[in-house]
Amino acid sequence: MSIQIKSVRGVSDILPSEISLWQWIEKNARSMFETFGYQEIRTPLFEKAPLFTRSIGEETDIVSKEMYTFPDRKGQLLSLRPEGTAPVVRAYLQHRLHLDPRGQKLYYMGPMFRYERPQAGRSRQFHQIGAECFGLSNPYVDVEQIALIYHLFKRLWTVRDPSISQKDRQSFQIHLNTLGCRSCRNQFSELLKRHIGNFVTRLCEDCQIRYERNTLRILDCKNPGCRELLKDAPVMIDHLCDDCKMHFEKVCLILRMRDIPYTLNPHLVRGLDYYTRTTFEVTSHLLGAQNAIAGGGRYDHLVEEFGGPPTPACGFALGIERLILALKEVSKNAEEVKPYCFSFMAHIGTEAQEKAFEIVNRIRLMDVPIEVNYQAGSLKSQMKQADKLRSVYTLILGEDELSKGQIILRQMKTGIQEEYPFEDIPKILKRKYESWIME
Ligand code: HAM
Repeated sequence: MSIQIKSVRGVSDILPSEISLWQWIEKNARSMFETFGYQEIRTPLFEKAPLFTRSIGEETDIVSKEMYTFPDRKGQLLSLRPEGTAPVVRAYLQHRLHLDPRGQKLYYMGPMFRYERPQAGRSRQFHQIGAECFGLSNPYVDVEQIALIYHLFKRLWTVRDPSISQKDRQSFQIHLNTLGCRSCRNQFSELLKRHIGNFVTRLCEDCQIRYERNTLRILDCKNPGCRELLKDAPVMIDHLCDDCKMHFEKVCLILRMRDIPYTLNPHLVRGLDYYTRTTFEVTSHLLGAQNAIAGGGRYDHLVEEFGGPPTPACGFALGIERLILALKEVSKNAEEVKPYCFSFMAHIGTEAQEKAFEIVNRIRLMDVPIEVNYQAGSLKSQMKQADKLRSVYTLILGEDELSKGQIILRQMKTGIQEEYPFEDIPKILKRKYESWIME
């Protein structure tokens, strides 16, 4: 009797039809990180559980409800990573990267795990692209990261699809807030608690628990009843100490100078407890309830809390699945944003086939993607296949061309055809490929 096993609820396969979009996003992110001076770090998918409970915060939803935590065979409690910051901080300290001046700006990509109720834009295994910068307290660093996301998103929103309207190009929004430092935040928390004390019993059940454990988080409750009650609540921005105020004003000023649009959102608190000062989120109104594509901020005490030297730090992470959902909304054909196959070889006749395979091999050895039909078919059917693969260029080799030692190069979009000698074609195609990927 056969058994049918399906994937676990809340996780997905990424199929070949989708993968080019993923790779395209990853490739653009990598190139952006490198331009901004970030180096890649890869940490394990699981860590000792206390790494997360202590950094993210015992009272947060992530730690209290969403972690995949299990004992290994020796009873040690391990957790699948729900986020990337804590593991990067651990690795940063464990390998003494603070002694390496190049180790200060790190980026990562990979799966994260949270036991949440699956819905559009929310899964139990999802993928983040994130960055962490250590050792710099300057507001320019906060802005640099916001700028990195802004330019990356702008690039992803438009590249290869000029038909995207101006309005859709602006369909993501940057929300900015500050949570102050420990001292001004604690004072503010007390003030907020006194204010909320007047109506705490009218808040939702979750907020009543937050009131005792993490009052600040009440500010970003999504419950409409709570929102209404909180609309006149005091906000952190009005209660910052002088240093935090100066830092935040500088962040806002540099963002304006760089023409990076943002909205002040004094109710933005974020779901992880390690933040200090600047916090930000990027949302898109094209998405439903789960509209945050990226989030991050400063966490100036976390390294020290893990036994390291006092080290200011700042980071962010974006969710690839949500980014893709938004891109698909912007351009309904986002899966096809990048053609699947750069070039295709069509050939007619047995003799031409031999030569075609030889040329395809030379082209592939030059790292240029090319697909070929391994069964001889009519030119018409092969051109149809090239179209289906969305090839940018098609090479055509028939008996005539074979006798002349030439091959036709057809640009599929324009239909323009040129002929080149066999020896030249790999080099010519390589040049075209390089300029195509830079477009
Ligand atoms: P986060 O806001 O928890 O921050 O997650 C960042 C992004 O991951 C979210 O904006 C969202 O796009 C995506 N994401 C989160 N949960 C899910 C889910 N269940 N399904 C799909 N996508 C999801 C952090 O994780 C921080 N570590 C960011 C950071 C880095 N802060 C400083 N450094």
